[in-house]
Order: sequence, then C-alpha cells, then structure tokens
Amino acid sequence: MIGEPVNRVDGPLKATGRAAYAYEHWEAGQPLYGFIVGATIGKGRITRIGTESAESTPGVHLVLTHLNAPEQGPRDESAIFEYWCAQPVLTGPDIHHFGEPVALVVAETLEQARDAAARVEVEYSAGRGRFDFAEYEDEVYIPKVVNAGLPTDTEVGDFDAGFDSAEVRVDQLYTTPYELSLPIEPNACLAEPRGEELVLYVSCQIVNAAQASVAGTLRMDPERVHVVAPFVGGGFGSKLGIHSETILAAMAARTLRRPVKVALTRQQVFQLVGMRPMSSQRVRLGAARDGRLTAIAHDVTMHTNPDIEYAEQTAATTRSLYAAPHRLTSHRLTALDLPRGTDVRAPGEAPGMLAVESAMDELADALGMDPVELRIRNEPGVDPERGVPYSDRHLVDCLREGARRFGWEDRPAAPASVREGRWLVGYGMSAAIRGHFQGPTAVRVRLEPDGTAVVRSDMTDIGTGTYTILTQVAAEGLGLPPERVRIELGRSELPTSWGSGGSWGATNSCTAAHRACIALRAKLLEAACGDTRSPLHGLDPAGAVLADGGVRIGEVSEDVGAIVARCSEEMEAEGRVRYMADDPHYSDYSINSYGAHFAEVGVDADTAEIRLRRMLGVFSVGRVFNPKTTRSQLIGGMVWGVGAALEEEAVVDPRSGAFVNRDLAGYLVPVHADITDVDAVVLDSFDGKANVLGAKGVGELGVCGSGAAVVNAVFNATGVRVRDFPVTIEKVL
Ligand code: MOS
Repeated sequence: MIGEPVNRVDGPLKATGRAAYAYEHWEAGQPLYGFIVGATIGKGRITRIGTESAESTPGVHLVLTHLNAPEQGPRDESAIFEYWCAQPVLTGPDIHHFGEPVALVVAETLEQARDAAARVEVEYSAGRGRFDFAEYEDEVYIPKVVNAGLPTDTEVGDFDAGFDSAEVRVDQLYTTPYELSLPIEPNACLAEPRGEELVLYVSCQIVNAAQASVAGTLRMDPERVHVVAPFVGGGFGSKLGIHSETILAAMAARTLRRPVKVALTRQQVFQLVGMRPMSSQRVRLGAARDGRLTAIAHDVTMHTNPDIEYAEQTAATTRSLYAAPHRLTSHRLTALDLPRGTDVRAPGEAPGMLAVESAMDELADALGMDPVELRIRNEPGVDPERGVPYSDRHLVDCLREGARRFGWEDRPAAPASVREGRWLVGYGMSAAIRGHFQGPTAVRVRLEPDGTAVVRSDMTDIGTGTYTILTQVAAEGLGLPPERVRIELGRSELPTSWGSGGSWGATNSCTAAHRACIALRAKLLEAACGDTRSPLHGLDPAGAVLADGGVRIGEVSEDVGAIVARCSEEMEAEGRVRYMADDPHYSDYSINSYGAHFAEVGVDADTAEIRLRRMLGVFSVGRVFNPKTTRSQLIGGMVWGVGAALEEEAVVDPRSGAFVNRDLAGYLVPVHADITDVDAVVLDSFDGKANVLGAKGVGELGVCGSGAAVVNAVFNATGVRVRDFPVTIEKVL
C-alpha cells in the first residue's frame, strides 16, 4: 500500500460538501456572528471609542473593546515556536499596525454584525509610523534567533580573503516583497461554551498549539479547551498558530455563554495574519575560472514588527547547498510598524533560494559555463558548515535527470538569441534543497472486533492528504484492505502531534503510525498464539504474515477480527516520534530533500509579457508514501515559485502602513492559464537516517528554487537581469 497512487480517501466527503470546515459546524447550535473592527491608522493611540450606536443596533449582543475585554495572558517570549504562545488582543489603546482589531461586534446575523461594526466610533491620535522598508533598511539589529531556532550568523574560513582573491566574482543585491499565504478558507473559528469547557472549531494546522495558545490567552486550564479541526482548507503557514479571530470568538462566547463564530474577510486576512517579511539580500560568490566556488556570502535584511520579532531563515539553505572553503551568512532585522512576519510556505528558503540561485546563474554567465555543470562542480562531500555527512543526498542525480528529461542541451547558448515570432525564448534552471524536520508526534492505532483498525492522532489534514497516507501506512502495517482502516484526526483529545507544517506532517505522523502498527502486530500475534481457542495457538509468531485482514502462520490462518473479539484487553498501541534535537541522526547527519527545476519561458519582444511555456522539477525526497499526493504537493510548490518570480507582491502604503492590494484581484497569483505544462518527477530513494520509513519532507521543497528557474529563463530569453522580485513587465522592458 505504501507507495501506491491511492485516491484521497476524504475526496468524496469534500466533493459532496459533507466535510465540515471551522465555520460550518452546525452541530454547535445556532451561533452568533462576530465581526472585527480594524484600526484605520498604522501607529498611534485610541483616544475615544464609542460603542453606544453599535450596541443599540438591532440584533447586537456585545461590542468588545479594550475597555471591556477580559484580562489575558501575556505572550511567552521564551518559546521557540510562537504558535504555542498566548495571543492577546484588545489589550489597550495602543495601535501597533494598520487593521489591528480595536473591537469585535457580535450579533444575531453576520449582516447585523457587519453593519454595527461600521457604527463603532473610534478616534485616534496618530503617531509617525515606520512603514517603508527602503527608508529604514539600514537601521538593523541582530535577531535573538532565526526561525526554527537556527543561528543568525555563521562563518567558516576567511570570507574576505577568499572573495578578494577569487578569479570571478558576483556581488549583487536582490529584493523580495511581502507575500502572504492566502489559503482559500480564511482563518475562522466557531467557539462553543459548554459550562466551564470551551469547544473551538478552528481552522488550524497544529491542534495542540491552538489549544495551548487559547488556554494561555484566556488563562484557562488547557484540559478545558477542546479543539476540533477535522478539515482545514489550506494553511501554508498562516494557520500554524491561531490569530485574533479565534481569541475574539472564544472571549465573546465565554462572555455571552453562546456559540460565537468569527471568520476573517479576505481583506482582514491581509492585515491580521502576518506575512513573509520583505527582504534585501546581498549575495557574493567568488569562484575560480574552472567554476569551483571559493567564497559564498549571503547577508539578509528583513522587516520585523517591533513587538513580535520574526526572522525568516532566508540564508539557511545557503549553508548546506554548495561547497566553498570561505563562507558567511547573516540575518538582520529592521523594525517596521507592520503586521508581524510569519511563516509563509518554505519560510526563508523560498526567497533565499530565489536570490542565491539567481546569483549562481549570474556566475555561470560570467564564467561562460553551463549552469547545470557549475552546480555539479560545487557538489560538497560533507555539509560544508556543519562538517557532518549528508544522509542521502541526490542533488546531482536530480540535476542530471532533469537536464536529460527537459532537453536542457537545446538551451539557447547566448541570452536573447532565440526568437519565435513575437516571442524571445529562454531556458532557466535552479537547484533545490530544503532541510527535513522531525517533531514530537504520537499516533494510536486500535483494532476492533469487526476486524477494522482506527488510527487516532490530533494531526491535521490541511488538504495535503494525511487521511490517505495514514490509511496506506496502517493498511500495510496491519495487512488490512484500506476500506477496513478508519482515520480520526484533528481533535485535541487525541494523541498529540506536531501537526501540519514545515513539510514535517506526513513523515512524523506516518512514522508514528508505522511504529504503532509494529507494536500492535506483536500484541495481536501474542494474543493469537497464546490463546488455546485460536487455531494459531502454539505456533511460532516469527513466521506470521498479516494480509487480507487475517493472520497466517504456515498453512493456518485466522481473521484479525476474531482474534480481537476473544481478547479481554484493548487491542491498541501507540507509536511515537522524537523531537529531532533528541534524535542522534539529526545531529550526526545533514538531512535534506533535494531537487532541480527547469523552466522555459517566452517573453514578448515588444511588450515584455512573460509566459511560462513549460516547467519540470525532478526531486529526491526519500521514500514516497503516495505518488499522487506527492506530485500534487510538488507541483503546487512549483506554482508558488512561478508566482514569486513573476506576480506575487503585497504593497504597503508608506503613509498608512496598510496593504493597498488586499484581495486576490489585486494580489496576483498564477491561474490555470499561467501554468500550462508543469510536471514533477521523483527519483527512487530511501533515507533511513530521516526515519524508519525512509521518507522526507515534500511540499515546501517544490517552492525552493522554482522561482529562480523562471527568472533565469527570463534572463536567457532577453539578456535582462531583474533582481527586484517579482519580475514584472515594466522591469524587463
Ligand atoms: Mo508551512 S510555512 O506551514 O507551509
């Protein structure tokens, strides 16, 4: 079953509308509707807030402001992952960024709540905010820590000496814009009070984090907070933590003792959830004439909100990608009065690789060398910064196989040398690498007397296919047909997982499920062979085969359900995965996923309109659970790369600190017409250092480097190098 292209087991539920998302759990009873009022200044103070008019509007039950909001727990600054921290809102009159919640209006209907929200009168004393990245880019400080606990700076050898003595040098500045996750399901929460308990139907990636965060904010015992998230309509980082909608719904529900639901509007998602920081990245590459790198430096400056520090790991992949004796990486922050930065699909890795893999293309051009060959020539033997071996590195295989399948040898040798009618045609490529993560996860598997298995974990399926791959792992582990496996996910009462995020969800939950199945299998065999009522009694369990819903030893077999039915004890076992810092494999090896992207673009010779003509990614991610869901993840990631290369950009108004494009009409992402011929291929491999199943992270790898392949193709087509992303028409003309 593992490795088969099984269709999504939850597909029919979703296609028929029976899969309930956070806003749709009508079993909670008739809810009240909350609507958030956002600040209309970016920095300053509320001087007066008038709620009388809103409160006297028909249907209104409550207007929450900082004047009547319950006291809340503070953020825990010591936590490595902010997602478990309290998220207090409406804490006082100070405004930290445009759109920050200043009130929640709760009414009988959404329309009444929205209407009354417009009647909340707020007067401000506006201060001078720091909104423009370019203006404050030089006022930097060193972050306390880079996201995921990574070091801010690294240094190997003597970079200045190595760079100065290099025969060929690239020294360029690349800038990347604010980008947002924007899943189709906006952040939403339905909060239902049940006595002193609180049930939260919430759109989140990590159930345990949502529970801890709400409990910490509302000063509740976490045991009394029940999170329910069986289906989540995409996350991409924006639901790793919960946001103001969840806290506000929870506070209102507790105050009113009624179910209250709050969903962000698309415009509010832009202002309230957080975004990928803007970055300016200086990349310096020094190489010998033969293409061997002698020096690599990647120095990054990003924005952060002053109160909630966040530094994307933008230079992190540069530390493990290519060999070079002299190396530097650094991350710096400049504080702006904007929403906090947060994890957005391949945090740091995506914008970082956009810059570094553009610079590698510039180096190949300066050397007159094939960009694929340049990368192969700089393949390291061991991780060049950590000094440890790679667990299962197949970057060169991806580069070679990708070049062969794509027909890379047909690449126009000189930029702007091939024209087909109106179109200038170019090829570009990029390498891809992404670190693999492992985090504490438990999964419980139980066999029932009817011969079915139930797999339980608070793990989420955010559209990625968790239900499906866990079905496959349990079916294989217990020898059951997949229709005899049931998966229960997304409830805080179930065994705790690290949730979905960072491309760790599939490997964590499948490894834990696999371990549970091994333990359960041993228990089952012991029960059968030790029971005089079983035909398997007295036989050696070492030779047992579990298949087709039965246990067979030699010529004798018995149905799994019959064995379970006779047992007095529960036929259940739990499997666990450790935090990577406690797993020696993760300190002894550099464990990453790899890939190579190839793109062909056409650029209109007169208008500079850029069309992606085809794209291919070849990847090495260890063992694949399901080629269908894996390919979807990788293609989805590659499309993100196309967006980052050519379209995506949230623009801040430097006068107010508001995003001026706050919907999917103004914030452009690729549509079907932009993505004509994109394919992803995965090479066979098995990384036994990553986990016992040999599998590694997939989803975010597709975003790493894919944008660079596209912009390098634009350079090959036109001879124009744009370093300020996205590469829009006016920059190419
Ligand atoms: Mo991940 S940043 O949760 O896509």
